[in-house]
This record gives sequence, structure tokens and C-alpha cells, in this order.
Amino acid sequence: MGKVGWVHAWQEALYGAHGFYRAQVPARQFGTATHPPLGAVLAEAIWHYADLLELSGVVDIGAGRGELIGALHSHRPDRPLLGVDVIERPDELPAGVRWLRGPGGAPLPDELADLDDVLVVAHEWLDVVPCVIGQLDGSGVVREVLVDPATGDEALGDPLDDADLAWQHQFWPLAHEGDRVEIGRARDLAWADLLTRVCRGAAIAIDAGHVVATRPRHGSLAAYRGDEVVRPVPDGSCDLSAQVAVDSLRHDEIHTQTTAFESFGVWAPMPDPALARCDEAAYRRRLRRATSAAQLTDPAGHGAFRWVVVRQAGAITSRS
Ligand SMILES: C[S@@+](CC[C@H](N)C(=O)[O-])C[C@H]1O[C@@H](n2cnc3c(N)ncnc32)[C@H](O)[C@@H]1O
Repeated sequence: MGKVGWVHAWQEALYGAHGFYRAQVPARQFGTATHPPLGAVLAEAIWHYADLLELSGVVDIGAGRGELIGALHSHRPDRPLLGVDVIERPDELPAGVRWLRGPGGAPLPDELADLDDVLVVAHEWLDVVPCVIGQLDGSGVVREVLVDPATGDEALGDPLDDADLAWQHQFWPLAHEGDRVEIGRARDLAWADLLTRVCRGAAIAIDAGHVVATRPRHGSLAAYRGDEVVRPVPDGSCDLSAQVAVDSLRHDEIHTQTTAFESFGVWAPMPDPALARCDEAAYRRRLRRATSAAQLTDPAGHGAFRWVVVRQAGAITSRS
């Protein structure tokens, strides 16, 4: 097979018949902030925000094996929860949690519609929505980067089309030959599509991202097999992700995860060591929670993740 645009090879590698997300088990492949023990504290933060907006339920887009849904359910077993992913409903999900299957990447299932009274969370979904990759050539033309799906070898193809070029001009300036751009249009459109499905509520995209002043000059496309960073080869054997240009997404607010936790009132101080002497189990619980919160808000780690927030009609900004 010859070389094709990264966007096509990437889509097939993750969501095709033998794609990474169909065949692999993300929970066992790598740990994210939705997995224990961090997931319990992340779920707490999400409920804090839902409470602030007086929203009853949560919809999790790109729900993996239901790790975050499970943590959300542990805090509030009485609240409506819906997970959406490309895989079948995981057996271990608590009864009553609804589940929808999507095709993967930008498209969402048709049944995901008329969402009411919910906070929609997309944790590390947009970074696995494949996008066009461009590169500035020696004559100042931005060309699409092509890739051989079997080997990962690249070549430059045609100049970007007008819509992608317009996005690049607006959001991702390129200065030097070899500079790369990950065109965020596919993510912008996927996010906008998700928002059209929310009648009353709010949506948060939580992802590793950048803004115009901090674009990665050589792009951020990365591949992982297990916990290992490997060469990006779109053959279905590894995960492929690229950070999100968060400022091109429709947004009401953009927080870092650190400021999001502060704004939404998540407070997890280190426990008093004296507690260990009278109630060791409680001390350990609080220590685990405080340590997880510290990891989630560490500016050099998950704290650098962005929370892109949109409130749809009817959602309020705070309790009054
Ligand atoms: C990087 S994993 C993140 C999983 C989980 N949210 C977490 O943070 O641990 C991305 C997930 O998004 C899912 N996904 C990608 N595109 C999707 C789509 N259009 N609809 C539903 N799920 C999708 C993938 O199958 C995968 O489970």
C-alpha cells in the first residue's frame, strides 16, 4: 500500500476493523487520570462542577472501559450516567448505567441526542480524533504529510486545501521549513457536533492541549504501546494521539486542571498525622485522596491538562 494522508491512516489504525481501540484494552494498556486511584478524585471534581451548574447526570464521551463512569457511580449511585465508546458495554459497569457505541474518531452515534440536564465530559477523546497534518516546505507552501501505514515512513503530498489552510493561518502560525501543524478543524467540528446534542447542560473537554502562543513547532503526534513511547506507525499496533489546540474549540472558559480544581472547590489537604494513631484506615483514605489530588493538579503533570468548558442553554453558572 502507498502513502496516504495521516488523517486517514490514523483513523483506520485506531478505529478500523482491526484498529487499536477495537482490539486493545485501554485500561490495561496505559493509565490515565480516570483510572484508580486518581479517577475517584477526578470524579469528585466532576460532581462538584455538575452541582455548581445544578445538573443531575453525566455523559462520558470516549468512556474507555467505564473507569470514570465507575468512579462517578461510586460517589453518586443514584445519578443518571451514560458512557459512549467504540466497544461494547463493559460487563463490569454497574446496573443502570447506559451505554452507546460510536464509530470512533470524530463521528458520534446518532442516538446521542437531546441530552438534557447533564454535564458531558470528554476526557482524552479529542486527542484521539485524527487530524490532517501539514508541513511547511522549502518554498513556503504548507503540504499535507503522507504516511506509509505499514512502516510509518512519511512524504509530503499536495498543498493543504483551502479550509485547512485557513485554519492554519488563523490558529497555528508556521515560520520555518519543516515546521508542522496538526489542523484542529476535525476536533473543532467534532466538539461542535457534540454540543449540538446538548439541549440543556454543559460540556467539558479535558485534554492535553496548547494555545497559539505555545504550539509545538514540530507537532505533538505521539504513539504509545503500553506505557512505552514508540515511533508513530499507523498499523493498529499502538495508540496514536496529538494534543489539542484548545483555543480553536468553541469555549466559554478554558482552565488548566489546576485552576479548574480550585474554581470548582475541590479541597483535599494532607491528613493530620495524629489521625493515623486513632483511625489508621481513615488516615490512609485521606492520604490517598490528597496524594491523588496533588497529582491531578501538579502543574508539571495532569494539572497542565486543559478544561474547555461550554454551557448550553439553561445551564446556570453558579448556585444563587
Ligand atoms: C485515550 S482513550 C481515553 C479513555 C478514557 N476517557 C480515559 O481518559 O481513560 C480515548 C477513548 O475514546 C474512545 N473514542 C474515540 N472516538 C470515539 C467516538 N467517536 N465515540 C466514542 N468513543 C470514542 C476510544 O475508543 C477510547 O476508548
